[in-house]
Amino acid sequence: MLSTPVILACQLFLLFSPASAGFYGSDTAVINLTPKTFKSEIYDTNYTSIVEFYAEWCGHCKNLRPQYTKAAKSLIGVAKVAAVRCDDQTNQSLCSRYDVRGYPTLKIFRPNGKIPSNPYVEDYQGGRTAKAIVDTVLAKIPNKVRRLKADEVQTWIEESNGPNILLLHNNANTPPMYKGLAIDYAGTANFGIIRNSEKGVSKEYGVTKFPSIVVITTDEEGEHRHKYSGELKKEPLYEYLSGFATPVEGAMAPKKPKKAAKGTQHEEL
Ligand SMILES: *[C@@H]1O[C@H](CO)[C@@H](O)[C@H](O)[C@H]1NC(C)=O
Ligand SMILES: *[C@@H]1O[C@H](CO)[C@@H](O)[C@H](O)[C@H]1NC(C)=O
Repeated sequence: MLSTPVILACQLFLLFSPASAGFYGSDTAVINLTPKTFKSEIYDTNYTSIVEFYAEWCGHCKNLRPQYTKAAKSLIGVAKVAAVRCDDQTNQSLCSRYDVRGYPTLKIFRPNGKIPSNPYVEDYQGGRTAKAIVDTVLAKIPNKVRRLKADEVQTWIEESNGPNILLLHNNANTPPMYKGLAIDYAGTANFGIIRNSEKGVSKEYGVTKFPSIVVITTDEEGEHRHKYSGELKKEPLYEYLSGFATPVEGAMAPKKPKKAAKGTQHEEL
């Protein structure tokens, strides 16, 4: 016998609750959407997003909250994790536009590589765990990173019109964080990845440990190579690359931790 998945959802009541301190507070990485911000955040972007339509009174939404908050944290800088509160009258237009029939309803918005501001919208029907959410979203993020072979690197550099960011890696997979950076700098820098098993590459770039990042720029004097020596994390890398290229408008600039001491964040650069 086929088992039908049980979708745990609260029924749709037009029951509006008073404003509250916030279901997803500013201490979480969840983006709270309103009709005013929905288009710019979710449509006018190259990032993939997941959006939860919820009601504060809904028990299944409360159960999902810690997992959703956790998923948002792991996807920082890679994909957008957002929410629309439907038991708030001003947001109701959004909830009806997306034909929300129960809470929580989760939808994935995947950028259409050809037509800007026209994402593919699909229902998320996976598990209600942070891991299931993260895995599903990661599988749908655009890949703007070019996988290179040793004999392709030179042409890739010569044909490009911006700085070339090359990740020398010992793994077959492109790290999500790196895919996120390629979206942050879409159109202003070129991102490539090459495996350390490609012949001569580590010698050519003087790299002995993997993963490593080399930024290659060209000017009248020729080619310049800049070896990145900081941590292979989104935040310091984003900062470092901003010295070579301009991030797109709306790039997911890493948030500065609220309580961090001033001036101590990026000293290794
Ligand atoms: C999306 O990516 C393209 C390049 O792939 C870039 O030209 C464009 O500016 C990006 N759009 C946004 C909104 O970031
Ligand atoms: C709309 O939904 C967001 C996200 O849940 C919420 O923060 C906001 O208070 C709601 N109402 C308005 C008026 O934006």
